[in-house]
Amino acid sequence: MNSKEIRQKYLGFFEKRGHAILPSTSLVPENDPSVLFNTAGMQPLVPHLLGEKHPLGKRLTSIQKCVRTIDLESVGDNSHATFFEMMGNWSLGDYFKKESINWSFELLTSKEGFGLDANRLYVTCFEGDENAPKDEESAGIWKEIFDKNGVKGNRIFFMSAEDNWWSAGDNSPCGADTEIFYDLTNSHKEGLTHEEFIKANSAQELVEIWNNVFMEYEKKDGKIIGKLANKNVDTGAGFERFAMVLNGKDNFYDTDLFDEIFSKIEEQKTELSVNSALSEKEALRVKRIIADHIRTSVMLISDGVTPSNTDQGYILRRLLRRAVRFADNLGLKKGSLFWIADAVVSTYADIYENVAKQRETIKVTIDTEEQKFRNTLSHGLKEFDRIVKKMEGDTISGKDAFVLFSTYGFPIEMTIEMAGEIEKKIDREDFDEEMKKHQDLSRSGAGQKFKGGMGDTSDISIKYHTATHLLHQALREVLGTHVSQKGSNITPDRLRFDFAHTAKMTDEEKQRVEDIVNKKIEESLPVNVVELPFAEAEKTGALHFFGEKYGDKVTLYYIGDTIDEAFSKEFCGGPHVKNTSELGHFKIQKEEAVAQGVRRIKAVLS
Ligand code: SER
Repeated sequence: MNSKEIRQKYLGFFEKRGHAILPSTSLVPENDPSVLFNTAGMQPLVPHLLGEKHPLGKRLTSIQKCVRTIDLESVGDNSHATFFEMMGNWSLGDYFKKESINWSFELLTSKEGFGLDANRLYVTCFEGDENAPKDEESAGIWKEIFDKNGVKGNRIFFMSAEDNWWSAGDNSPCGADTEIFYDLTNSHKEGLTHEEFIKANSAQELVEIWNNVFMEYEKKDGKIIGKLANKNVDTGAGFERFAMVLNGKDNFYDTDLFDEIFSKIEEQKTELSVNSALSEKEALRVKRIIADHIRTSVMLISDGVTPSNTDQGYILRRLLRRAVRFADNLGLKKGSLFWIADAVVSTYADIYENVAKQRETIKVTIDTEEQKFRNTLSHGLKEFDRIVKKMEGDTISGKDAFVLFSTYGFPIEMTIEMAGEIEKKIDREDFDEEMKKHQDLSRSGAGQKFKGGMGDTSDISIKYHTATHLLHQALREVLGTHVSQKGSNITPDRLRFDFAHTAKMTDEEKQRVEDIVNKKIEESLPVNVVELPFAEAEKTGALHFFGEKYGDKVTLYYIGDTIDEAFSKEFCGGPHVKNTSELGHFKIQKEEAVAQGVRRIKAVLS
């Protein structure tokens, strides 16, 4: 079954059971500064899992783009990738364990579904702790299903919170889950003991294919503080893993998702590749890393990320520069990333309109970054060798690593990796000190953000969010309607707003923008929210720059007494203050360029 069929089948199955299909949101969470990327399908739905009504109802399904970069070193093995898609279905206070588990089983094993052999399934359930009782209910449902379908042996295992409790961080809806595993080897048909199950799992003979979370609780600052208003279901199934299992593969790089990308990599090989010093196994790993990194880069760029030294842009830069280095190791032609990116675009063009539409921009952005890095790469490698030769002991100083970063554009993670390859280390602390000395602290990125975890909605952040809407509109009035949001990031100390505009703003323009925002604050305008069908909401002229995100109905925030007369109107998930009078005084602190045609404003409220 090819990947396209899997997508259709999954969404179709849940649509038939009353679920509204949601398009994937951008990889960059729009109003959640606590995370750089969506890392799970449920992330865009957090406000709704916490109780906010969803315009499309109580049953939802989606295939959500996700990026995770914590396991970068593992990419290239059988089961790690930095970009993946997550198939999910949700109940917002509607159905619960019985329907959820039965549907998962039905979709996995039935003929209309994926037709997997039920004898190859294993499940885990939560064993209970001081926060919540043992999940006998889920286990009972599974037992009934297995008995009814003649599935033999021991298949249901109770595990601790470490395995069977799911939350998206320290501040998140959460709950016990039941995880479904598939036996890749087809050698455990008669069931397993608990011990055998653990062993088969760590040997990757079993692979987790679906996680059904029963979200009933809320976590704040790492502690469970009580029950949610609703009993929700949040399920997640890795799309690539499904493709792998359904095609009888033991790794997802062998699925059709990578066919075109790998043939392009083959095409880009030179004699250097033939004579490469890499072992076959190592060459395979490197090839997968290149494919993975370019795939992720394409998806990030299609969602508006550009290479830079901070936040999302830095992750993109790291991936691309790492890909350049590995492309050289594999002996690919210079400039090959451009062509590999083209193959990635082709793979996803039918699925994501913004990928298809931006084919050229994506390729040029990647090519430009490759060229930029190549301008300094060979000198940087020489410098690296020089440093290694002159050093005493096995640790490269922070100062030297900083020179590689600032003069030759080597991301510190890359230097660490290169050092690791020759059994050396980097004095990371020393490097961080150097970095601090040389850089404006506010540019240090993720560390500056909320520690609070997901969906932090502290009062001050909500104020900054409303101020961002006022700023957006004020900029359009002063600079023109070409101004559109390219990014937004809020910490308790400031707002940061990126927007399309080419010229540096004059002092006078900045003053006018500040004056407009402060006037709107003084006017004590109410902030209102309505829910409208998409077409109607669009007719109001409300701003919306993330077209893909919206379903049939949207929430629209407007600032003013009526929609018609509102100063600002935007499609937005909230939250906002009730009245602009709550905001205090608005001041622009900094206006600068962040990328070609993109300006950035940092502003504070006092
Ligand atoms: N949130 C859960 C996960 O990411 C289920 O969707 O695994």
